[in-house]
Amino acid sequence: MAHSLSKQADGIWLNARIAATGDPGNVILDGVMVVRDGLIAWLGAAAALPAEYRSADLAQHDVGRRWITPGLIDCHTHLVYGGNRADEFALRLAGASYEEIARSGGGIVSTVRATRAADEESLFLQSGRRLQALLAEGVTTLEIKSGYGLDLASERKMLRVARRLGEHYPVTVYTTFLGAHALPPEYQGRADDYITLVCEEMLPALHVEGLIDAVDVFCENIGFSVAQSERVFAAAASLGLPVKMHADQLSNIGGTQLATRFKALSVDHLEHLNEADVLAMKDSSTVAVLLPGAYYFIRETKQPPLELLRRHGIPIAISTDSNPGTSPTTSLLLMLNMACTLFRMTTAEALLGVTSHAAQALGQGHKHGLLAAGRAADFVLWDVESLAELAYWSGRNPCHAIVRGGRFSP
Ligand code: NIG
Ligand code: FE
Repeated sequence: MAHSLSKQADGIWLNARIAATGDPGNVILDGVMVVRDGLIAWLGAAAALPAEYRSADLAQHDVGRRWITPGLIDCHTHLVYGGNRADEFALRLAGASYEEIARSGGGIVSTVRATRAADEESLFLQSGRRLQALLAEGVTTLEIKSGYGLDLASERKMLRVARRLGEHYPVTVYTTFLGAHALPPEYQGRADDYITLVCEEMLPALHVEGLIDAVDVFCENIGFSVAQSERVFAAAASLGLPVKMHADQLSNIGGTQLATRFKALSVDHLEHLNEADVLAMKDSSTVAVLLPGAYYFIRETKQPPLELLRRHGIPIAISTDSNPGTSPTTSLLLMLNMACTLFRMTTAEALLGVTSHAAQALGQGHKHGLLAAGRAADFVLWDVESLAELAYWSGRNPCHAIVRGGRFSP
């Protein structure tokens, strides 16, 4: 996309309130930020601004006491897919459960059919519309999983679309290969053979093509067993790729324990997580990613064990899980609201969950989720009086402006 010079955000940002780490307990109330060549050159209290920047001929941006946070990070999405599952929503409202629909040949597999049938251009267009909604709320970094292709060509198509979205839109995309998301119909009754295909053909081929940043598995009774998940993780490890896991969502079959043995970046969902799992996470620096949109949409009643996570100091991230089956949302701000109302997280925890902690869940804490000298100028200006408002409103977008890579976006 062509950006005009006037869209450059280089210069001095004055009169700001800045939550540089995403932690509302650690803010600068009379803040100044200097941006040069797309990077933050200096950030701090106005009174401490070095003389060189006072005298320099810098463009001035008066923030008008608005709040500035790091660009938001959505660290768990299935944004690229064909079609939608509104018909299945109707079945569920009539009483069918997510598991029943999955077992009767609907669910993930129906999106697999639609995704296989869509060509790359159409997938790009459908997914781009969803992405634009996320970006409008201040998302500047996003993870996108494959997992609705379930054969080499279709998984490649999804990951290529994910990469193209990152090139075309003002967002940094991290791709996750989720070949072990569901059993494709042609492998019915042969789950171990499918895992062999994932490990020996799909994973190495897509890795060589540079399409994979991390590897995920849906470890669940209706997904893959611990033993099958272990095979996928071992294959990922042999290629030097980090892993993460859809774990303990509908039951606890030991997924988190396995994930921590492989030093997983994150384990995600976690409604059925127990204390032994949390202790194992602590040892492996694994982030807990909570997905209130999925909890809400499938009308789950078992809550993730927030107190346990807090007691053991586990970093908690929040994400949309944007997908057609369990979380058809494109609003990360709504997830902050739900994390607070449904899980009783504090508004401060929720904001950390989409900044620093979300960056850690992607293994990118050194790059994203935090504003400091030397880092990329990826930040959001918010029209709010207090940071708590970011989680307080629902269905309202207080985003005033977004800067990514030192340019106003879009
Ligand atoms: O994160 N649990 C598995 N994957 C998705 C759901 C995918 C689907 O139903 O299409 C999730 O909830
Ligand atoms: Fe998911």
